[in-house]
Amino acid sequence: MKFSLDKHLDVDLQYIFGSKWNVNAEDLQNYEAVISNAAKRVQRIRKTGKGPGGKAVLFSRLPYILDENVLMAAEERLRLERLDGIGKEQDVLISIGIGGSYLGNQAIFDIFYGPYWNMRSRRERNGYPQVFFAGQNADPAALMDLVRQLRRERDRCGRKLRVLLLIISKSGTTVEPMAAFHVLRRELSDFCELSFITVTDRNTGKLHELAEREGWEQFAVPEGIGGRFSVFSQVGLVWGKLVGLDIRAFLDGARFVEEHCRGKISDNPALMLAAVKFIAMKEYGVAAEVIMPYGAGLRALGWWYAQLLGESLGKKFDNHGNIIYNGRIPVACVGTTDMHSLTQEHQQGKKNKIVQFISVRNLPDKADFFCDDGRAGGMVDLGMLLNAAARSNQEALAQEERMSCAVEIEKLTEFHIGMLMYFFFLATAYEGAMADINTYDQPGVEDYKKNMFALLGKPGTEARRAELDARMGQAA
Ligand code: PA5
Repeated sequence: MKFSLDKHLDVDLQYIFGSKWNVNAEDLQNYEAVISNAAKRVQRIRKTGKGPGGKAVLFSRLPYILDENVLMAAEERLRLERLDGIGKEQDVLISIGIGGSYLGNQAIFDIFYGPYWNMRSRRERNGYPQVFFAGQNADPAALMDLVRQLRRERDRCGRKLRVLLLIISKSGTTVEPMAAFHVLRRELSDFCELSFITVTDRNTGKLHELAEREGWEQFAVPEGIGGRFSVFSQVGLVWGKLVGLDIRAFLDGARFVEEHCRGKISDNPALMLAAVKFIAMKEYGVAAEVIMPYGAGLRALGWWYAQLLGESLGKKFDNHGNIIYNGRIPVACVGTTDMHSLTQEHQQGKKNKIVQFISVRNLPDKADFFCDDGRAGGMVDLGMLLNAAARSNQEALAQEERMSCAVEIEKLTEFHIGMLMYFFFLATAYEGAMADINTYDQPGVEDYKKNMFALLGKPGTEARRAELDARMGQAA
């Protein structure tokens, strides 16, 4: 079974649906009520902006964020427009954030800018700044390495560097980005001209208070948009504007999917993909999902999708408080690199996984080489080889009766990446509704954060600290 959204995005389900060894028409019939209820629930979210427990869930408004006031106030939109110029005034942009406040931007950076961006001259970067990410790990070595690199940059250009710290944290309290911000502010201040923009919840949180006090420019992470759904919100758009991303095309891609994946299962590929994965998990022992984009620049997209899948569907409780332990282990890989390390296990290890292939039909660059064991004529195009590798992997898995599904975008543009990311949002929303879970919260992430604050001695966490000390004492 195949779907095509105007050839911009194609979904191929032939190796997860329709054979005797994978999900079949009878399964689909048995789950008909679950699927149509899920479709109705997502439709209700679209209409009311409310999800499980009546909480705000507004991801379906994201494609329209620049055209209405629901998620971004008119004055904020005007300021967003001006960021393009502000980005060009900087030598360096450091985007500080973690989880949903980081992964989408890193994915987009890798796809459209790439590992050599910072080595290009300013002219080759069309005036846009060098880009670094920080706060996505608590590792002091990585942070100090960045400081040393910027010192070298300063020495090279012989004047203070103009550095913009873009601090992205919905809560404004997450330890890693806040620590990175404080360290960078202190370490860079003697050789850089620092400026600051924050993207945070504007109603609460220390970061907001700090930005208010200092008079920094602020953007909001709107209510009803969770971290992993935030790449189309101010989280992705502010960063995107500062580095010259075509954010309008990116949102248009999301909008295209939002408007083409609302219908019944027969013409709604996001709903169909969700249904077959859900049934595979429930009925065929699928416990893991291998995310396998093809192309070196797409590795971080796999990390982004791993977070979406893991945090959205990995839930202990359903919406009625029953323990269900829902979800699949997300495994982010990249082809062809990981075919030489992980494919062995996918092909012959436990039959407990599906592989989600992602590929690009027309790659932006061409390179060919003479292959003496290749086809007649001997010249082989690398892009063709990349796509042939993905296809070969799918076929080999199918020969072993292993499930996979494939999503292919036509080309690598902001529009197509917007489509792809939003397509996975929707499929995840549908599947969460099938499982009857809260797709939009992440109580498991909060659990460890509470322990960490206790171990760091935050006031008010003394009881938990005592409990942890007792437990760690016993273990020692
Ligand atoms: O998806 C989520 O909500 C999380 O991964 C958060 O994005 C992550 O924990 C960072 O949180 P914050 O943006 O509040 O710093």
